[in-house]
Amino acid sequence: MEDKKLIFSGIQPTGTFTLGNYIGAVRNWGPLQDQYNCIYCVVDMHAITVRQDPVKLRQNTMNSYALLMACGVDPEKSILFIQSHVKTHAELNWILCCNTQFGELSRMTQFKDKSQRHPDDVNAGLFTYPSLMAADILAYNADLVPVGIDQKQHLELARNIAQRFNQRYGDFFTLPEPYIQEIGAKVMSLQEPTKKMSKSDENPNACILILDDKDTIIRKFKRAVTDSDAEICYREGKDGINNLMTIYSTITGKDFAAIESEFAGKGYGDFKLAVGEAVADHLEPVRTEFARLSADKEYLKKCYTEGAEKALRYSQRIVSKVYRKVGFVDRT
Ligand code: TRP
Repeated sequence: MEDKKLIFSGIQPTGTFTLGNYIGAVRNWGPLQDQYNCIYCVVDMHAITVRQDPVKLRQNTMNSYALLMACGVDPEKSILFIQSHVKTHAELNWILCCNTQFGELSRMTQFKDKSQRHPDDVNAGLFTYPSLMAADILAYNADLVPVGIDQKQHLELARNIAQRFNQRYGDFFTLPEPYIQEIGAKVMSLQEPTKKMSKSDENPNACILILDDKDTIIRKFKRAVTDSDAEICYREGKDGINNLMTIYSTITGKDFAAIESEFAGKGYGDFKLAVGEAVADHLEPVRTEFARLSADKEYLKKCYTEGAEKALRYSQRIVSKVYRKVGFVDRT
């Protein structure tokens, strides 16, 4: 690979991404390929920290893989693979687990949230989730990790684990930096704009899925919750409008001032329709490309098989050195 900084990121195999996943993360993965060496993966091993239906998990993993490609990740430019295909992640995870403290893992807010939401299945994998995430990143000695704000704490832990390893065994791991975009980092629910947009929301109108058709997208935006004054401007307390402005801005490239003058004197109805149309039109090529790729299973398979081979080759060199450092006997 060329001498550029290395980016690593992963995404959960939810099958179809939300507009939040798209704007906050996946949309940027394509453009990053021109500036950096990029390694991206679908994290099916992370997914089983909560209960999954095996048939759906397999389907969702394949769909997520195809969707990343439809969103602009090019398997010729980047290494794009499925986490469980590359055994070094699990191998390094064990070593990192032995360098992670119980107390550190206990402080993770995602663990606290998820264990409250699934009190009947607080399994060890859910607890050690951040160690596997650290292994994903450190197995490649990645420099930069694009993540949403909600993953920042996990990334800080990954840095601490790397630092501790370096202190114990001698400098080895690169300390990964978060790469968090400012605007659009958090897309809010269309129904309760103080909450993050989430696929698991009970109200289907709260969340745009990037494979929703045009009519569905427009309908959901038309029903978006706003406020009782009638001014389209970005201001504290106007959570619904602020969220719509953020979405419109990231999709059209217009800044807030331009949006304010575009809609000066117009009503919320006009604005919501404009946002809905802009989003639907923007996502149209993603939907088309996803359909095309999904129909070509052979090609997808070729891509993920080659992706796994490249990822293994790359990470194997690093993990072998880690084995040596911790004192494991050379196998050959
Ligand atoms: N935990 C991340 C999420 O839920 C996904 C993830 C797994 C990841 N491994 C990673 C992100 C490594 C960045 C780097 O969003």
